[in-house]
Amino acid sequence: MIIALNNKCNFTLEEFIKYQQELNTINDKNTIILCPTSIYLTNFTKGKIKLGAQNVSSNIMGAHTGEVSASQLKSIDVDYCIVGHSERRKEQNETNAEIKEKIMRLLEENITPILCIGETKEEREQNKVNQIINEELKILKDIPNKDNIIIAYEPIWSIGTGLIPTNKEIIEVMNIIKSIYPQNKVLYGGSANEKNIDQLKTIKQIDGYLIGGMSLHPEKLKVFLEKLKN
Ligand code: 13P
Repeated sequence: MIIALNNKCNFTLEEFIKYQQELNTINDKNTIILCPTSIYLTNFTKGKIKLGAQNVSSNIMGAHTGEVSASQLKSIDVDYCIVGHSERRKEQNETNAEIKEKIMRLLEENITPILCIGETKEEREQNKVNQIINEELKILKDIPNKDNIIIAYEPIWSIGTGLIPTNKEIIEVMNIIKSIYPQNKVLYGGSANEKNIDQLKTIKQIDGYLIGGMSLHPEKLKVFLEKLKN
């Protein structure tokens, strides 16, 4: 399984260094990917845990103030990168077209994109889940060599709320994704934690998890990973 940890915009440097030491005590067979805030990427000591970024520029290196390019990420040994997270779609107005460009830049550098997709509460209430997932998946349509791209289903209403969809609802979306892209790994993200993992892990279609809030608490993460084994 793939366990991707999205720290989002959290931790001071001092806190991050302490956090990383705790994280490195985790001994687990799963592929664990840490996506810290970008300024801490070079403070990460590579060991068993792999390194991911939370964002990348859609441009190549050059005159783009405040941006970080895929080649720069590669030069500091980043192997994965989250793209299209709903927080960036909302706060930075990222479009599907821009997200596609970011994926292209990452693939040019052999960095594995983790593409986030998912519906809002209103879209679910209006029975538009199928439509939204299909639209967002079109980002990958014309991208060559896409089998290694990781897709993360993150229902927006579930992120940071403590609410998760029913297993039936998750399976429905997983099946849509896998019917179009059967080769790609699909993660679930949205309030996944050490309490609901017993329910989530019964879903056979899930290839891993993208974890936000709980990623900040290594002790909870250890319980989560332990439960995932059994
Ligand atoms: P939470 O686990 O805090 O709901 O966040 C999920 C997420 O957005 C991971 O990218």
